[in-house]
Amino acid sequence: MNETARQLITALEGGNRLQKNDFLQILTHADAEDVEYAKSHANDLRIKYFGNAIFLRGLVELSNFCKNDCLYCGIRRSNTAVVRYRLSKEQILGCLEQGYAAGLRTLVLQGGEDAWFTDERMCDIVSAVKERRPEIAVTLSLGERSKESYRRLKEAGADRYLLRHETATEWHYAKLHPAFQKLSNRMQCLEWLKELGYQVGCGMMVGSPYQTTECLAADLAFIQDFRPQMVGLGPFIPHHETPFANEPAGSVETTLFLLALVRLTLPKVLLPSTTALATLHPQGRLHGILSGANVIMPNLSPIDLRDNYTLYDNKANTGLEAVEGVALLDKELSSIGCHVVVDRGDARY
Ligand code: 5AD
Repeated sequence: MNETARQLITALEGGNRLQKNDFLQILTHADAEDVEYAKSHANDLRIKYFGNAIFLRGLVELSNFCKNDCLYCGIRRSNTAVVRYRLSKEQILGCLEQGYAAGLRTLVLQGGEDAWFTDERMCDIVSAVKERRPEIAVTLSLGERSKESYRRLKEAGADRYLLRHETATEWHYAKLHPAFQKLSNRMQCLEWLKELGYQVGCGMMVGSPYQTTECLAADLAFIQDFRPQMVGLGPFIPHHETPFANEPAGSVETTLFLLALVRLTLPKVLLPSTTALATLHPQGRLHGILSGANVIMPNLSPIDLRDNYTLYDNKANTGLEAVEGVALLDKELSSIGCHVVVDRGDARY
């Protein structure tokens, strides 16, 4: 056990605000015992606020066209090997019904930054979903748009928005993205979304190329200050058609530690155990929950198109991470005393 790290983890757990340097001390000095301590206390907090309920979000990957060129991402615009597709409104409503029947009460509409999905088209889709199933929460994950666009989408019925900040460190952001993509714009978007009354999610990859421990400390400090309702956090996994093809994947253990620290920082946060984590470790999803995660996002996209939405290599898509696998997923969760619930799973703050 490391005294400094343990003291700071305990302070965090006690609701104290930490400095970026404190997070750095934790990440630098924690030994295996401290990591276990953080994970088990994060798991206790999850149980305290959510019991054994795991919330589900049905993920519809509505387009893999993207104008951006994130160096880590398999659907970046420079990847000419991708077969591009976009779903029609009817296909999206079909996904909605399939998810609804499986007990999902949140629909996440995620896609690359595809200009085809204008405000008019997107608003039409969101209001159609809300009209068809008013009790469903709609989460959007469509990247950077204008404030006016976010406002219109909110008015059309969107409840939540996921926009991972990817890294809170300017120089690191510039290593992961081409120059036309700016961290300042991403942060501005997150502020707008919050201002407009969305439940907002930010987040980052663990172990992305060039990431240092300082970067992760900055991410945790940002999350603490921004107080998002949701945090998306998974390991980086290389994709063979990107400039990062030969970079190593992020560590499962570090990802679990980060999940635990996020839960300790924001006790009521909605925290998915991500597909990326399940991709790197057969028990990744369960370990995520035992480290404080309380959300799983089954894939609801049409099966024949799922392979085209490959952000990283070996992305699992037809097993327990898919809507067809909800019953099996529930069984898997029962091995750690948890179960899926039919619930919108809204934020508690
Ligand atoms: N490995 C892990 N996560 C990735 N994402 C994109 N590419 C990868 C990758 N190679 C994540 C990004 C993005 C989210 C939708 O998927 O953080 O915000």
